[in-house]
Amino acid sequence: MKSNTEKFGKTPHQPSLWTRADALKVHADDPTTTQPLVSADFPVLSNEVFIWDTMPLRDLDGNVTSVDGWSVIFTLTADRHPNDPQYIDENGNYDITRDWNDRHGRAKMYYWFSRTGKDWELGGRVMAEGVSPTAREWAGTPILLNEQGEVDLYYTAVTPGATIVKVRGRVVTTEHGVSMVGFEKVKPLFEADGKMYQTEAQNPFWGFRDPWPFRDPNDGKLYMLFEGNVAGERGSHTVGKAEIGDVPPGYEDVGNSRFQTACVGIAVARDEDGDDWEMLPPLLTAVGVNDQTERPHFVFQDGKYYLFTISHTFTYADGVTGPDGVYGFVADSLFGPYVPLNGSGLVLGNPSSQPFQTYSHCVMPNGLVTSFIDSVPTDESGTQIRIGGTEAPTVGIKIKGQQTFVVAEYDYGYIPPMLDVTLK
Ligand code: FRU
Repeated sequence: MKSNTEKFGKTPHQPSLWTRADALKVHADDPTTTQPLVSADFPVLSNEVFIWDTMPLRDLDGNVTSVDGWSVIFTLTADRHPNDPQYIDENGNYDITRDWNDRHGRAKMYYWFSRTGKDWELGGRVMAEGVSPTAREWAGTPILLNEQGEVDLYYTAVTPGATIVKVRGRVVTTEHGVSMVGFEKVKPLFEADGKMYQTEAQNPFWGFRDPWPFRDPNDGKLYMLFEGNVAGERGSHTVGKAEIGDVPPGYEDVGNSRFQTACVGIAVARDEDGDDWEMLPPLLTAVGVNDQTERPHFVFQDGKYYLFTISHTFTYADGVTGPDGVYGFVADSLFGPYVPLNGSGLVLGNPSSQPFQTYSHCVMPNGLVTSFIDSVPTDESGTQIRIGGTEAPTVGIKIKGQQTFVVAEYDYGYIPPMLDVTLK
């Protein structure tokens, strides 16, 4: 049987490994890598919809961009059903927790706009019903292409299957607000290949999603990050010396960790427009460590590549653990080798007293980290919770060499632009 790294041959690069030894260094509640407590009296963006993954409009270099002074974000969104009999419990109360937990199946892409980088106003759905080919419109990235306001929305078309797709439209502004026009023709780009990236046939719990296109600051070419799992039948992966790393005596037992096979994938565009893509071997694998490295994204700073990805406690392998939050890795060149930030990878995790308070962190090049509120305990024991489905307070981190530090907290959903584009 081939080892996980042998699958990728010798060229053009070997994936870097997030090892079990690295993950043993993950510690919840270190104040420098822990998100401040979110108070249970948070405001909600909307009583009509839940929102979660938040995708600021940006350019291909990663800069969060406003247009004509309007900030724009896209969010995964689902209707709230406070009056739907399906979500009324036996006592006649709205079971918001069940409604929230069911949201992934009906996720749609919406957009919001703002003059202040917060206090978001709902714009509406990006694509009309029936435009997207599958039931679920999952996460991706809206890219402002030019001063004409053209936008390429890369996202994941899920159920049936999981396909990385894109749809082109245009952002239009007036004095009073922003609208999205076009977004009528969805173009499939690629799916998992079963050779480098696991397919649904190989594992019904596979992950293949969350495109994040970017221009490499060094070679100027168009690439795309995405979430994947390492190819191979479920259960066939090996957790060898390389994946285990340098563990202390007594830590060699990997249990069932061969079922955890997350990776950060990368593809390169064959054309300028990003219509034709070639998948390359993953940048990073977490076999034996974690099953999900979601929404991977970069910050390019000080000539280095800071690779961030979100992950969960429940997706960690036997014998290793860590909080829900954002993890990071750094390299001197695009294809690595990547080393975990802060030794462990953990950059910003939930405090253990509120393990589900936030998720889906996105680190922006200005050091601001946006996320959404999932659920916050409302009593001491943590048995009563308040569901969020809204923007969390933004956190500021400082990135210094191979370390990061939590340094600031801002308002709910504060996503200020880094540059403004005046549309022609
Ligand atoms: C992260 C995530 C993404 C996915 C979406 C589905 O919160 O799991 O990976 O695209 O949410 O709702």
